[in-house]
Amino acid sequence: MEAAISFHDRRQDLRRLKRVVEWSRYFAESLRANQSQGQLRQRGGPAAHADASSGNPGASENGASRLRLDFGSNDYLGLSRNPAVLAALSECFQSGSRASPVLCGYSSAHRRLEAALARMMRSEDALVFSSGYAANLGVIACLAGAGDLILSDQLNHACLIDGCRLSRARTQIFPHNDVGFVRDFLQANRHQFERVLIITESVFSMDGDLADLRSLTDLADQYGSGLLVDEAHATGVYGPGGCGMLGELGLEGRCLAKLGTLSKALGNVGGYVGGSRLLIDYLINHCRSYIFSTAAATSIMYAAEAALAEMLKMDTERRELRQRAMYVRHALRQQGWHVPLAGQQGQPDDSPIIPVVVGAETVALELSERLLQQGIYVPAIRPPTVPEGTSRLRISLSAEHDHEAVQRLATAMGQALGR
Ligand SMILES: Cc1ncc(COP(=O)(O)O)c(C=O)c1O
Repeated sequence: MEAAISFHDRRQDLRRLKRVVEWSRYFAESLRANQSQGQLRQRGGPAAHADASSGNPGASENGASRLRLDFGSNDYLGLSRNPAVLAALSECFQSGSRASPVLCGYSSAHRRLEAALARMMRSEDALVFSSGYAANLGVIACLAGAGDLILSDQLNHACLIDGCRLSRARTQIFPHNDVGFVRDFLQANRHQFERVLIITESVFSMDGDLADLRSLTDLADQYGSGLLVDEAHATGVYGPGGCGMLGELGLEGRCLAKLGTLSKALGNVGGYVGGSRLLIDYLINHCRSYIFSTAAATSIMYAAEAALAEMLKMDTERRELRQRAMYVRHALRQQGWHVPLAGQQGQPDDSPIIPVVVGAETVALELSERLLQQGIYVPAIRPPTVPEGTSRLRISLSAEHDHEAVQRLATAMGQALGR
């Protein structure tokens, strides 16, 4: 009997081992394919090794890291290290929220932040999520469903794409910023669908260019559709008090849902949506990534509320940031780099996300490494984050970069071209 059991056990062990080998082979083959295409990713990048206490964005002067200047973060106003924000953290009565917001995870700190965000967006109400990804995924998936239509810009962020997929609505991707396509499609097909959502970013994350929000808003009105705008990269940078591009253009009241994150200019982590009180009540009752997830950390509510108060006051920093962005764009184009325009039809060319499109993954990686050798971190962005053949360096400016820092960047980019 004992022998029989051990024979059975050994067979089970062998089967388990075979499965481990099969999975390992599958993982290794996938990673080899990533590597051979120049698309292998790692956690952190060089900034992970920098001294977080140095006060310089991602910088270290102690020789332990080669990094002196970080052009990879989305901390557009440097608020992740702002003293008032750090002080607010120390006033917090608990770190985590301990439960879903529809149970006991929602506190007065959550309410205060939501009220402040709603005021900033000129919305009736707002709802905070534990990440921008969770906000976008959940909101889209519960605003549209089978029998509905979503029109989504070709360059929308992965979480917007995933939200469309999860919704089970018919999703029509439109060529980047092609308002004519949206108009024609709605004219021909609007009648077939009950509800229609048009989804765009206001500042695109990997190209730094601006959507034509006026035209999209007009089309949404004309064809009885809802407009959903992701302001992740516009908040803090555009609009009065940094309220975003909808605010800059005076379109806040004509948008069904305004999405944003606490993780870019607000220097923390988390996401939010602004809209009518009815929309927010609907989301509280239907949005699965809100209901079935622990509420955003209470400590983050404290820090984000303080960051938001700081952000509203930073018009000078915003203006200087955008001026420096224009300076860098101009300098790089003069050197011969391909830096696509951020704005069309009279829109400004001043977004702090500056793509330097080089084409091949290997070229982007090599350039990034060459800059790093001079202590400058600029990440290489490769497919699938951007379309094949459009690998790039993505320069991300912050108000913490002074004129000297952007000059050093421009000089290093010139040297990388051999100029
Ligand atoms: C346009 C856009 N939307 C949403 C997100 C997701 O936000 P979060 O990082 O807060 O999850 C990102 C993140 O990079 C983004 O670029």
